[in-house]
Amino acid sequence: MGSTLNLEIGLACNGIIHGEPPSEVMVEIARILRVDHAGETGAIQIYRAQIFLSRLLYPDIVPILAEMLEHEQAHQKVFSDLLRKRGIRTCYALRLWSLGGYLLGVITSLLGRNSIWVCTNAIESTVLLHLKEQISFLRNIDSEAYSAVCSIKSDEESHQQIGMANQNKGLLSVLVIALVKYSTTFAIWLSIKL
Ligand SMILES: [Fe+2]
Ligand SMILES: [Fe+2]
Repeated sequence: MGSTLNLEIGLACNGIIHGEPPSEVMVEIARILRVDHAGETGAIQIYRAQIFLSRLLYPDIVPILAEMLEHEQAHQKVFSDLLRKRGIRTCYALRLWSLGGYLLGVITSLLGRNSIWVCTNAIESTVLLHLKEQISFLRNIDSEAYSAVCSIKSDEESHQQIGMANQNKGLLSVLVIALVKYSTTFAIWLSIKL
């Protein structure tokens, strides 16, 4: 992500680096915002699918899933507003995030309610790792993007804690964690490349 020393060149009123920003930094910031927007799109679809099937299979967990969906929709808006404001395109793999997210939501729901919580814990843990890296990168570079990323952190932490508190460990959970981990890592890798 480059040398922090070179990047600490002050903040402008609009939140972007003062003066002429190094182009590789702007490319990296655009990537972060684009991938976060795509990730929130995927999260929305996961929760939509889980809510749809939980209405039939586990109606007691629908309210908490619906609350988390509301958070993800608000998060997506934060990033879509910022992308629009800065004239940054959305991720070319956005449809893959949507489709993959919905599929993951369907699979985990059909595997049982425990898989929903294992999925939530695994996804949000991955998200939090990325947020942590992004926050330390953006801290002294771009106050607006930094605030956007920070604004979603506490919701993601609460989602991860809800998943962790409700999940049970077992062979199935190991498989679900592997599925979530590899599909998320692949989607993020692809989004960074595209
Ligand atoms: Fe989110
Ligand atoms: Fe979340």
